[in-house]
Amino acid sequence: MENRNTFVAPSLLASNFLELGKEVEMLNRSEADWLHLDVMDGRFVPNISFGLPVISHIRKATKKTCDVHLMIEEPEKYAEDFKKAGADILTVHYEACTHLHRNIQQIKGLGMKAGVALNPHTPVHLLENIINDIDLILIMSVNPGFGGQHFIPKSLEKIRQTRDMINHYKAHALIEVDGGINIENASSILDAGANVLVAGSTVFASKDPEATISALRKA
Ligand code: DX5
Ligand code: ZN
Repeated sequence: MENRNTFVAPSLLASNFLELGKEVEMLNRSEADWLHLDVMDGRFVPNISFGLPVISHIRKATKKTCDVHLMIEEPEKYAEDFKKAGADILTVHYEACTHLHRNIQQIKGLGMKAGVALNPHTPVHLLENIINDIDLILIMSVNPGFGGQHFIPKSLEKIRQTRDMINHYKAHALIEVDGGINIENASSILDAGANVLVAGSTVFASKDPEATISALRKA
């Protein structure tokens, strides 16, 4: 994963679960770079989504990068299982990890890229001491748990702060942004320094999801 590139990662949370196979085929045909897979435990976030068996089936149906966003408590208990299920990138929440440095080493030791997600209230500078250890920072631009929410404007400043921190420490982490991204705000998010755009409802609620993915990619 190279820095300064831009990637589009549709979030399957907004897809039609009854037609999951067809949705993945559509993503395979599309210009989507990654598949963003949101795992929720009903504890860290007030919602439950899908888990390991669904991800292993998606893994078998695609060659694209499986970008797994864990919105769960005690993610260290499941890192190995997500590796077995086929995750390429495993992102844990700063707010869910007491021993974040250890969790990151565990994820990388299992052969996955390690990401850390920050809730809207969590300051970026808290990652200063581990910025050189991680492959990805996920800036949540909504409160995690649900698709279809509005982008929190303050997130743009957090993206700029993250870019400054990465430059300052000569780190290689990608900046991924998740929540409320649409065709209108995508370019300002990239201008602020983001590399990866996650988009759920914008892609799957559109008339032509493939065209929407291409449009996001051109933003
Ligand atoms: C929210 C999830 C997001 C969600 C984004 O907790 O992490 O990935 O699917 O959905 P939209 O793009 O609809 O805001
Ligand atoms: Zn997500």
